[in-house]
Amino acid sequence: MSIILTNSIEEVRQNIKAYKEGKYTIGLVPTMGALHAGHASLIKKAKEMCDKVVVSVFVNPIQFGPNEDYEKYPRTIDRDKKVCEEIGADIIFAPTPKEMYGDKKLSNDEITYVCPPYNLVDCLCGKSRIGHFDGVATVVLKLFNIVQPDFAFFGQKDAQQQFIIRQMVKDLNVNVEIVSCPIVRESDGLALSSRNSYLSKEDRENALSISKALNQIEKLYKSGITDTEILFDAGFDVLKDNVYLEYIEFRDYENFEKVKTAGKNTLVAIAAKAGKTRLIDNIIL
Ligand code: PAF
Repeated sequence: MSIILTNSIEEVRQNIKAYKEGKYTIGLVPTMGALHAGHASLIKKAKEMCDKVVVSVFVNPIQFGPNEDYEKYPRTIDRDKKVCEEIGADIIFAPTPKEMYGDKKLSNDEITYVCPPYNLVDCLCGKSRIGHFDGVATVVLKLFNIVQPDFAFFGQKDAQQQFIIRQMVKDLNVNVEIVSCPIVRESDGLALSSRNSYLSKEDRENALSISKALNQIEKLYKSGITDTEILFDAGFDVLKDNVYLEYIEFRDYENFEKVKTAGKNTLVAIAAKAGKTRLIDNIIL
């Protein structure tokens, strides 16, 4: 069967109805397109675990701030289709903003938003990206309602996003299992991101300091240093001449609470700008 590429919610629903009638399990991989090997690993995992795989490709306007890169975000649907076809996905759902949100003004004056808990939003990326996670939670819930997946696949790179989605699923009783997939990196350590395409040669060189800082923190942790202030300073030393640091945060990977003493299951997350490009990366100790 050839892959179905559609921008129609109705067409997705019809196919999902047939899958449900056939008792197939359904996996959803939500993406904003510009698919790279990181996304491919999510689609492959979905293929392994589910009978039918839906990949959504939607650059979601309501998760971008006014000064962010919504307009310039890479849109590469022909290439994305090839990636999905090669792996054997069944449906690519690539709606327009109008299909998703109608003609309404894209604000909570006119459309319903999901507001994730303040504790999970007012920290890390949410501090500088006001409203971002409301936009993410809203679109992800809409995708869940349209596709009704048994499993949904997200990358560990967006660790805060994943926490927020897990919390939303729990709080709003959504019947889906969230599957986390490991970060995929270039051979030199740079975490794959669709935004890496913005990096000049020099920015890319500087961006490498992010994974190097995480490695340095991990090395010190493994040597017995658990004080997060010392670990922070070690990471900062690697980053300071290369990128503009937004945060290095140490959080418990079970409950997302801040930790002072690093231990097994501590998430170390970094956000920094290389040139004008904002990048995130993390490790779990
Ligand atoms: O991680 C992303 O690519 C996006 O935030 C998501 C989950 C597809 C929602 O637009």
